[in-house]
Amino acid sequence: MTIRGRSGLPKHSDIGIIGFGAMGRNLALNLTEHGFRVAGYDHADISGLSEMSVLCRSLPELIESLDTPRTLLMMIPSGPEVDRLIDDLLPFLERGDLLADGGNSFFRDTERRAGRVGDAGVEWVDLGISGGWHGARHGPSISAGGSRSGCARVEAVLGAVSASVDGERCFARVGPSPGGHFVKMAHNGIEYAAMQIIAEAYLIMDRLCGLSISEIQAVFASWSDGEMGSYLIQITADILSKRDSETGKPIIEVILGSARQTGTGRWAAVAALELGAPAPTLAEAVHARFLSEADRPQVSQAGGAGKPAGENAASQSENLARLKGAVLCSTLCAYIQGFSLLAKAGKKYGWDFDQGRIAGIWRGGCIVRSSLLGIISDSFRANPSLENLLLAPQLAGQLESRESPWRHMAREIARFGIPAPAIMSALAYYSAFVSGSLGGELLQAQRDYFGSHGYQRVDRQGTFKTDWLNK
Ligand code: 6PG
Repeated sequence: MTIRGRSGLPKHSDIGIIGFGAMGRNLALNLTEHGFRVAGYDHADISGLSEMSVLCRSLPELIESLDTPRTLLMMIPSGPEVDRLIDDLLPFLERGDLLADGGNSFFRDTERRAGRVGDAGVEWVDLGISGGWHGARHGPSISAGGSRSGCARVEAVLGAVSASVDGERCFARVGPSPGGHFVKMAHNGIEYAAMQIIAEAYLIMDRLCGLSISEIQAVFASWSDGEMGSYLIQITADILSKRDSETGKPIIEVILGSARQTGTGRWAAVAALELGAPAPTLAEAVHARFLSEADRPQVSQAGGAGKPAGENAASQSENLARLKGAVLCSTLCAYIQGFSLLAKAGKKYGWDFDQGRIAGIWRGGCIVRSSLLGIISDSFRANPSLENLLLAPQLAGQLESRESPWRHMAREIARFGIPAPAIMSALAYYSAFVSGSLGGELLQAQRDYFGSHGYQRVDRQGTFKTDWLNK
């Protein structure tokens, strides 16, 4: 028997979801399918979404359909709209209710909102929900930030509908707020880099190897399993097999190459700079999107240096093997940079990030899920205090064994004038860990020469200066 409130709507819903865009709607479907009673509200008309337990026409109706202490989840785009919704909700919420933000909010905004909502006696949880609409529908990966009790309340509902890998739920409380959104931001920094590396591989197979779209598709399809296996590689193979319904051409040929971004990867690159966490590949991926803008001035039509004359080109299979090594190593460096960002943030903000658990929840459901994350997760679990993944024997071995083909591919990229900033920056990043000095001694001398900033010596303690102009 359905208990109805004053509005005539059924009561006793388990969770109220506000915002029925692709993510909110599919998450509600997933929850309903798992037996949860969902009350939904959107300022747009959602009357056609009959699959919801309870469709509410106003916030008061939504509030009435939930038993206290209520659990509400905002699934709306990041930005001022979140603040406006909080303004609208707080008057209806009571002490002990819980409000969660499942959007891609900037962690500094989340920090502010958590304080404001907490002051009203309402529990706050921030959720980094990854996997796109498909993940929301069939099992996302979720990083939660907030109190242990608050996150446990959310996990009782969303944990049951998250992805799961080898029996491990891809839902974790990663720390206090805004840790959930910070971890999602790091995820998106890696996502941007991994996407850029794949786009560069696509360019290289076209311009260096001279492969057709269908041949490139076959290469990505062959990479979809084993150590290279990842969600992004697999969807790339799907994308390259798709034809445009209007022209019959491969759809990739009719899509304008001007990449957009809602800002999440940029936030990660900026956070890394602020925290002093070297993350050049995450940053290059953001710059590459800026550079992809269609209004970029074309300095020449030569399309780069083009094929060097009279060169004994490597064989196709040699180039593809080298490229595979370069893609795997560069992607690994993107993960390494993302986790070093998390490590720096954990230290700076006192968040007790469990890197192994974060790698574990990224093994399923999310956009960066891949075979490599299994090795990464194992490496952190074998050594929880691991400073940098480059020190993990299995990962270091992966890089060492492919360093030579990676460097060969970098040489070809440079010779053929192919723009591959992510792959090249990842190699420079790795080179910094396998070579001695990076030339910092000259930087110190220059700084002391013009700014009298002083420098340390290799042979004794202390800070020294030189009167450089006194010959
Ligand atoms: C995810 C994705 C998602 C992301 C969009 C748009 O984990 O599901 O990271 O949250 O925000 O794919 O990202 P950009 O517009 O920033 O590329």
